[in-house]
Amino acid sequence: MAAEESPDAAPGAASLARLDEIVSLCARRGIIWQSSEIYGGINGFWDYGPLGVELKNNLKALWWQRVVRERDDVEGLDSSIIAHPRTWEASGHVEHFSDPLVDCRACKKRVRADQLDDVGPCPARQGTSEHDWTPARNFNLMLRTQIGAQEDAASTAFLRAETCQSIFLDFKRVRESARQKIPFGIAQIGKSFRNEINPRNFTFRSREFEQAELEFFVHPSEREKWFAHWLAERLAFYRALGFDGERLRVRPHRPDELAHYARAASDIEFRFPFGWQEIEGVHDRGDWDLRRHSEFSGKDLSITDEETKERYTPMVIETSAGVDRSCLALLCNAYAEERLPDGETRSVLRLPASLAPIQVAVLPLAKKLAEPAIALAAVLRRRFAVFYDESGNIGRRYRRQDEVGTPFCVTIDFESAADGKVTLRERDSMAQQRVSTDGLIAALADRLVEGR
Ligand code: GAP
Repeated sequence: MAAEESPDAAPGAASLARLDEIVSLCARRGIIWQSSEIYGGINGFWDYGPLGVELKNNLKALWWQRVVRERDDVEGLDSSIIAHPRTWEASGHVEHFSDPLVDCRACKKRVRADQLDDVGPCPARQGTSEHDWTPARNFNLMLRTQIGAQEDAASTAFLRAETCQSIFLDFKRVRESARQKIPFGIAQIGKSFRNEINPRNFTFRSREFEQAELEFFVHPSEREKWFAHWLAERLAFYRALGFDGERLRVRPHRPDELAHYARAASDIEFRFPFGWQEIEGVHDRGDWDLRRHSEFSGKDLSITDEETKERYTPMVIETSAGVDRSCLALLCNAYAEERLPDGETRSVLRLPASLAPIQVAVLPLAKKLAEPAIALAAVLRRRFAVFYDESGNIGRRYRRQDEVGTPFCVTIDFESAADGKVTLRERDSMAQQRVSTDGLIAALADRLVEGR
């Protein structure tokens, strides 16, 4: 295993090498790779392959289960990616959503002004090796597109920079149709786009990414209570994914780093191989969004309390998770290189069993046993994510499954037909147990539902 570093230490070479191993594993095993690879790639865009899409879907399904389905005070939404362009004027993104940008006059490198420490020497100025930076200027991060056949300013639209704005636009419609009263929330999972100046650290900072956002509407007197509630809920979510105290922390924002819409904010941070970084933001957005959209659209988005007759604009507590960052955190948390008692090493992804892309691998000990093994795989497939593999020696097949985080392997051997039993092998302990084929579904269901 790579040497562990103290939680606050700057990331060392061992940590960064570990990230390289994860990136290479992801590409090799069809989890994540760079988009448009055959054209040399496109910076800041990623494709999730057969195993990656399963992992990501499982994570999104878990979020939806916890945040929407298990609650009677949260409704779901799936809005369009492109909203009326006025949306982004009202939200403040056209005016404020920018990063400071500098260019090197010598080598033409373009970087975020707050990341100059990470830039190496200037290749065009070997005498001094120092860059010749321009003064910083603001660079708006919104990606633009054109709608319709005209290419003029009036047809310019934006790919959304956060999923939540449509939640505010649809607030009245959802509240009335779902007959919800304050406090209640609206949740959405979907793609967001930011023209990041320097995409980096694998999927961590991308130009296209997915967010899972909840906007929870509360009475002004209850903002602090609900902020604390949602911060605790979201921390519990990540702890249940197996992120422990060494890897997870909360960092409240200083007043000078608050986003233009936020009155208070805390980042939930994960310790990646490249250091502590945000995976989710919990924000008190106040009445900024509903008030601004009321002003810009001319539609009143305040509400009247039926009992007290008080008229007010609800305050918003937001939880904004990055799905790609959480997937990356899951992979970093799960990845280990282990030395085995027989002197060999194995790579293993100790993913939570319920999120693993493959839940059960069915492996006949020999090709001659393919027929009953294929039949068993077909039965298991109705309940679980199953992979069938008959090629190579059994040890190598186990390793291949360990490497992608498959929690259980089921092996059919030459005794199986006679005694009605198969071998169930567990990924983390590598313990093997003979179980009856009849009880196999129940045994797996127990472990996969209960398993983290
Ligand atoms: N609606 C509030 C909002 O968008 P944010 O802190 O800008 O807040 C929320 O973003 C989350 O979205 C972040 O915690 C992160 O997980 C994810 N995120 C933001 N920018 C990202 C990027 N360029 N690449 C990947 N994920 C990103």
